Amino acid sequence: MTYHDFDMTSTNSAIDYYDIIAESYDQMMRDDEPNVKVREAVRTYFCQSVPQGKILDFGAGTGLDLEWQLSAGYEVIFYEPSANMASQAEKSLGISKRPGVSTIVGKKADLEHIGMLPDASLEAVFSNFAALNSVEHLKETFAVFASKLKPGGHLICVLTNNFDKVSRLKSVFSDLAGSQAAISKKVEYTKGQSMHVFYHSGRSLRRAAANSGLRFEQSIQLDFEKHELTHFIKY
Ligand SMILES: C[S@@+](CC[C@H](N)C(=O)[O-])C[C@H]1O[C@@H](n2cnc3c(N)ncnc32)[C@H](O)[C@@H]1O
Repeated sequence: MTYHDFDMTSTNSAIDYYDIIAESYDQMMRDDEPNVKVREAVRTYFCQSVPQGKILDFGAGTGLDLEWQLSAGYEVIFYEPSANMASQAEKSLGISKRPGVSTIVGKKADLEHIGMLPDASLEAVFSNFAALNSVEHLKETFAVFASKLKPGGHLICVLTNNFDKVSRLKSVFSDLAGSQAAISKKVEYTKGQSMHVFYHSGRSLRRAAANSGLRFEQSIQLDFEKHELTHFIKY
């Protein structure tokens, strides 16, 4: 008997979840005033920190950040593993034909495909609104990001710390024990269907980054469901 037989839900990947909600995602975000404000603050921070050039948007979703990225003069690699989220971006923004945009989407969106980009070619990796909370192993992911960043390049990511006390305590003990395993919580998004969301403490983010040659610049609390922006710079 497996763990899942006990709790009677089947656990899917976050990608299944985003495939299901893709059509309503933009409306959900636009109706959420705090989200709109925070997105604006993240945009300002990013544009003030990162010079024009090529950037990777990791977990780009439906492309809610694409217009500002292009109008600020960035060339965007649009990376999104949910085929339905990417197809929303295709419908509303024409990502496959849009000048200044290249895509790594659907089944191609994996670390191997990021690995095919030229080394030291990116000004920044950007990951907005908790895409990295769907990733269990940050160490491998950050190592690939770091290899693609130019020296002085930026990793700017927004993760949620919206986890209960028990998860956070577990994470402290896990960190102290030197474990690299992320603490996760299981979220039931519809009856009988759930997914794992991974908690990455500031300390574990910084450790994964340091292992990859990324130095911590700063982190900023955002006024939206315990989201936090963290900024690293490649040595
Ligand atoms: C909350 S949405 C954020 C989308 C977009 N960045 C935004 O700000 O609107 C999280 C995104 O992460 C994507 N995602 C899920 N698992 C992922 C993974 N392993 N790697 C990269 N992105 C992932 C989801 O498909 C989804 O589009």
